[in-house]
Amino acid sequence: MPLPPLERIPSDVVALADYAPLARERMTDAAWAYLDGGAADEATLADNLAAFRRVRLAGRVLGDFDGANTRVELFGTTFDHPILLAPVALQKLAHPLGELASAQAAAALGAGMVVSTEATATLEAIALAAPTPLWFQLYVQHDRDFTAGLVARAEAAGYRALVVTVDAPVAGMRDRERRASFALPEGVSPVNLEGLRALPPQVSPGPTSLFDGPLPGVAPTWKDIEALVASTHLPVLLKGILRADDARRALDHGVAGLVVSNHGGRTLDTAPATLDALPGVVAAVAERVPVLLDGGIRRGTDVLKALALGARAVLVGRPYVHALAAAGAPGVAHVLHILRSEFEVAMMLAGCATPDRITRDVIWPGS
Ligand code: GLV
Repeated sequence: MPLPPLERIPSDVVALADYAPLARERMTDAAWAYLDGGAADEATLADNLAAFRRVRLAGRVLGDFDGANTRVELFGTTFDHPILLAPVALQKLAHPLGELASAQAAAALGAGMVVSTEATATLEAIALAAPTPLWFQLYVQHDRDFTAGLVARAEAAGYRALVVTVDAPVAGMRDRERRASFALPEGVSPVNLEGLRALPPQVSPGPTSLFDGPLPGVAPTWKDIEALVASTHLPVLLKGILRADDARRALDHGVAGLVVSNHGGRTLDTAPATLDALPGVVAAVAERVPVLLDGGIRRGTDVLKALALGARAVLVGRPYVHALAAAGAPGVAHVLHILRSEFEVAMMLAGCATPDRITRDVIWPGS
């Protein structure tokens, strides 16, 4: 039986990684496999972290820090710092309060949160729980009218942006999850999708064929992005962009921002680490829209490196859900606090008083 959440955060929890073992003891084997696993051999999952370690920082001494701050502006909102909670599905697998606890923690620490389409609380309840800037992560559903309904709900509930995940028209081959026979436990479901009719049954009898089934005919395309942009007053970001040509195409379709992401290594295994993909996307975008990054952020120095290579902000995923499982909202708030504190220290040691002064210059040449 998994242990209950901690009532007090132990004093030896000082870094994001310290939460993983505490979470492991508090989640079932299947829930852990779902949350922590990646696709196939998990090469991308591992590389997301390794890429940050490969990059060396060039600290600068004796800078002037009068008026130093970590503030960033995104789509008309000023955030206290450039660290957002990434959309992570099914958070009641980690803690009974799920996304409500995460949103409360985000609010306490001035962080934005991107709420998953597959959240286990309604998007309206999450908005009520948290006076913090929320964005809605959208999966374009096979039923486009239902999708439009989700967008209308997000607009009405005060969400400030739509983040369309485009790298998962089909789930990746997540072996860990399949070995653990992951299934939704009682009381945990993607409640925002209630009322969505099931996909029509497979038209041909092949038991394993994806392409002979109904999915290819309903998977989202660039036309959906164009229609979405035209249908909403909210800024639309695409999440899951790694290639420069996809980035340019996104701009041609009117998107307001991009998230360089490989879905936390959960979709196309052996795709590059997000930090490695970032410079190409940033160059293609040429400052026309903000570029964000997720995947592998574990340290304040990681945030600094991502900003140095052109990201405006970053999103953290698994580590905050580890903290959610370990200690609920205080755990998530602690993760944000640690990351922000580490980021400030890294900025000061690298000689950068504000996020816009974090440039490629802080990356050690050749690393
Ligand atoms: C959902 O997006 C997942 O990766 O499980």
